[in-house]
Amino acid sequence: MQYYLGIDIGTSGTKTVLFDVYGTVTASCTAEYPLYQPQNGYAEQNPQDWADAVLHTIRTVMDESKIDPQDVKGIGLSGQMHGLVMLDRENRIIRPAIIWCDQRTAAECAEITEKIGAERLIGITANPALTGFTASKILWVRSHEPENYARCAHILLPKDYIRFVLTGDYATEVSDASGMQLLDVPHRCWSEEVLEKLGIDRSLLGKVYESPEITGTITAEIAAKTGLSAGTPVVGGAGDNAAAAIGTGVAAEGRAFTTIGTSGVVFAHTDAPVIDPKGRVHTFCCAVPGAWHVMGVTQAAGLSLKWFRDQFCDAEMQTARGLGVDEYILMDREAALSPIGANRLLYLPYLMGERTPHLDANARGVFFGLSAMHQKRDLIRAVMEGVAYSLRDCLEVFREMQISVSGMTACGGGGTSALWRQMLADLFECPIGTTASKEGPALGAAILAMVGTGAYPSVPEACRAIVRTAQTCEPDAGAVPVYALYYQLYRAVYPQLREQFAALSGLPVQE
Ligand code: XUL
Repeated sequence: MQYYLGIDIGTSGTKTVLFDVYGTVTASCTAEYPLYQPQNGYAEQNPQDWADAVLHTIRTVMDESKIDPQDVKGIGLSGQMHGLVMLDRENRIIRPAIIWCDQRTAAECAEITEKIGAERLIGITANPALTGFTASKILWVRSHEPENYARCAHILLPKDYIRFVLTGDYATEVSDASGMQLLDVPHRCWSEEVLEKLGIDRSLLGKVYESPEITGTITAEIAAKTGLSAGTPVVGGAGDNAAAAIGTGVAAEGRAFTTIGTSGVVFAHTDAPVIDPKGRVHTFCCAVPGAWHVMGVTQAAGLSLKWFRDQFCDAEMQTARGLGVDEYILMDREAALSPIGANRLLYLPYLMGERTPHLDANARGVFFGLSAMHQKRDLIRAVMEGVAYSLRDCLEVFREMQISVSGMTACGGGGTSALWRQMLADLFECPIGTTASKEGPALGAAILAMVGTGAYPSVPEACRAIVRTAQTCEPDAGAVPVYALYYQLYRAVYPQLREQFAALSGLPVQE
């Protein structure tokens, strides 16, 4: 039998899954790591934590599966997008990675827009300057930590740092590189113009591949540490959302999915680079060579619920430990006891600023309508509904852009909640399917490895052969009009607070 590894370097942890050539899981292991927030709006991680987690999880799945390492025919990587990893000439990590949800770079975004011109920037990179993207993070380090910038010899994205650890190659692939704001997205190559205008030396960047292409092979040193065979091919892989698309079978025009992971995404495959002139949704190269996707992003989706869990759900966590179940299942049950609208409580999930549709780094979370009658169950439900309203905002932009969506699948940790899926069906007013495999990005990355090493002729054909849909959840005719009323009010709250969010971000914080 032939086997493939899919490695997903996420924000809360790394998941490594060993699949057979039919996409069946043989072994799987997850390792978590911390997210550091040294200041309000900052978000950093230690790339060494990712590397340790990747080596540990590979070793574990290899040991558990007991397969012959020679039977691992390929490895695919997927991971959180946009993060900035800087290495010096000796390949030492220079500073913690500034990751996708960090919001410190508003001034650098203004600088990028000024240097390139708003229209030209969207024409080349398919997106406006955004705090989440890598280019503004590079400029921030250059102006705030010139000594670190001077030492920098290599700039890599999170999963591409892992590629370097595994294979020694400095490389990336088009889907993740699209989120750096340095790629010519329509032409799928680095933009000389953007690099020159921003004064970023091209030699700092890796070689760009298509997602299924082989970028290198496992080194002897890594083989000894992990139990893999030296020489095992590693393919480009994809950013987590582009990989999740492949893992959910979204590889053709009109196909779409929603994911609720740390961030939330509504994603649609397109055969051409379709761009929102207002930049509210991203246009990126997708993992199918020669195709693109549009995607709206809710910064704090699962992150909102995790934040709530960590701050207020000790009791649930303890009970869950006692029962040996996931605490989110208990929180889900509590939320289900609250009615639609959470007893007139709205939540705006802007804990880490917001991208779609507001593009506002200063926005922050809001509970609107708190009353003394509210219980924890209402707050949990309001958080889940607020995330679903925000994902509906993404879909609204697609509709405005006339992107027709013929089917919607839910995935990510949040996608496993039947309650959350029903909220999406009622708010999107369309059936929401799931896939038989819950492995999303890891399966997508492994499928790319299968295609790149010749097990299947193309990504869409591999998806057709491997990805199976499971049950579908239909909109509930009674719930749809109630959600519509709450959604209308939700949409009205942010514009009333925009200026106050900006004022809040300027207030002093006492040390
Ligand atoms: C996408 C984005 C997030 C991260 C983390 O643009 O920033 O989805 O990839 O999951």
